[in-house]
Amino acid sequence: MCGIIATLSYNDNISNDLVSALERLEYRGYDSAGIAYLDNDFSLQRIRTVGKVQLLKAAVEKKHIKSHIGIGHTRWATHGKVTELNAHPHTADGVAIVHNGIIENYQELKKRLVNEGYIFESETDTEVIAKLIASHIKSGEKFFEAFKKSINELAGTFAIVAIYEKEPNILLGAKKGSPMAVGLSPDKQSGYIASDAVALSTLADELAYLEEGDIVIVKKGDQFLYEIFDPNGRRIRRKSVPNKVSLNDVSKNGYESFMLKEIFEEATVARKTYTRFNYDLDISKFDNISIIACGTSYYAGAVAKYWIEDIAKIHVDVEIASEFRYRNPVFAKNSLYIFISQSGETIDTLCAMRLVKEAGIKTLALVNVETSSIAREADFVIKTEAGVEIGVASTKAFVAQILSLLMLCCRNIDIETIELSINAVLNGNYDFTGLANKIKHSRSLFYIGRGVSYPIALEGALKIKELSYISAEGYPAGEIKHGPIAIIDENIYTMALAPYDKYFDKTISNTQEILARNGKVLLITTNDAKNFLHGIDQNENVECVFLPANNPLYLPFSLTTFTHLLAYYTAKAKGHDVDKPRNLAKSVTVE
Ligand code: F6R
Repeated sequence: MCGIIATLSYNDNISNDLVSALERLEYRGYDSAGIAYLDNDFSLQRIRTVGKVQLLKAAVEKKHIKSHIGIGHTRWATHGKVTELNAHPHTADGVAIVHNGIIENYQELKKRLVNEGYIFESETDTEVIAKLIASHIKSGEKFFEAFKKSINELAGTFAIVAIYEKEPNILLGAKKGSPMAVGLSPDKQSGYIASDAVALSTLADELAYLEEGDIVIVKKGDQFLYEIFDPNGRRIRRKSVPNKVSLNDVSKNGYESFMLKEIFEEATVARKTYTRFNYDLDISKFDNISIIACGTSYYAGAVAKYWIEDIAKIHVDVEIASEFRYRNPVFAKNSLYIFISQSGETIDTLCAMRLVKEAGIKTLALVNVETSSIAREADFVIKTEAGVEIGVASTKAFVAQILSLLMLCCRNIDIETIELSINAVLNGNYDFTGLANKIKHSRSLFYIGRGVSYPIALEGALKIKELSYISAEGYPAGEIKHGPIAIIDENIYTMALAPYDKYFDKTISNTQEILARNGKVLLITTNDAKNFLHGIDQNENVECVFLPANNPLYLPFSLTTFTHLLAYYTAKAKGHDVDKPRNLAKSVTVE
């Protein structure tokens, strides 16, 4: 959450790098954006705008900036409303900083700094950091010492970068809980600090990732270099790894949005996941499996519960990370703990994993970003092969997650069939726009399913909520009559996931119960159900779509792609920005 970029260069056109990196970082937050830089007289300047990076870009272009050092930020608001005053960078006496994360003791620090005479202009927790550094400089410390002292006084999670106008040839960065990477341009003319590799695609081809408590200094002298110090102040070498994010990964490649591009990659991602899966973990040696994650990744775990229990006959618990980590869990004996995360930075999942590690239990992470904190801290890692996911709503990563989980319990799968069934949805003649125009007026929506279609219903409902802002609930079809059916009337649409599997008849009867209350239904079924519909398709309140018939084991794949496209077109029909849904950001690094 929130994107950070900072650069120091021999060239004086750093504003181009800052803005292009912020454009790529926008998926991490788009409430406001800003940059701070030293102009040719080494005086600190700042530009901030509310809203998308495009507005900042226009404001920056007007200035024709000549500068060799600067920092930039895209914000996802935590403390303080979305206003220009709350936008980063924050400044104090020639110091400018940008920050990701939350400073938990900011009230206490603010009180102290107000007593010292500092006047605060924002409602943010971040501004205390700038004032704290300035206060230490005022007491006689050099910038680096002042920065270090300040970092030691902060409680909470953060990635921070700072510049200071009186020491114009250094950039300082610190990491605790939020990711941070450092790298140089291939021609060694510029150095960068950023919150992720996506920011630095096209800028740095090798990156070093900071570890917890590290401080980095990027310096310009005869030679360009960066130095990293561990929490004990010792200079330390962190391994440099290639920045694998390519221009292709960060462009829409002709699609109108990243989300659509990523949904259209779902079949390829399934194939890649299958081809590259070479983990030989034998899950049969465990008595229990606990899967812990958040959001869409949690639903991937919920799909896997059905598969693992059915195929491997091992008991599976699936848990929401933010609940697991605070409820004093009892650790089952001989249990495998699996943590699923696309970004690998979700703080609740990361902290839940640390809790399990502290109990002396080995952890397995299923992550898409191999350089992420979860990937680096887990005992064992399975890399999902979704590639870079930019759309804020996770789509192709979910496909990679469920396929990897299926392969953990069943190696002998028919990838051809999975691929074909996803492609049949992608390239079929489904009238998504027509369907979207019908459901977009619904006061609220239900997504129902039984068996493995139930977690897909949860995933479908989440996608509708986050993109269309329509209240949508995923429900086990059999549970609707235990309360939620009270909501049903002619203004409510229900999406019923009823492929022709062993649950089909039951889901159809639950759908009939909804129709009996005048509810409207989009029945999502499969071609082989056509002869068994008993006239439900003739009901004037039912719209039917038929997906390819398939082995029940593989049905979640085509159902997923269908629900992703339906959510996409519904949001589009409502005129929403699908890549930047309101109030959200990718990579949730705060609690
Ligand atoms: C929904 C979505 C979120 C994420 C959740 C976990 O479309 O994207 O619910 O799935 O924030 O993120 P990761 O998988 O990065 O841990």
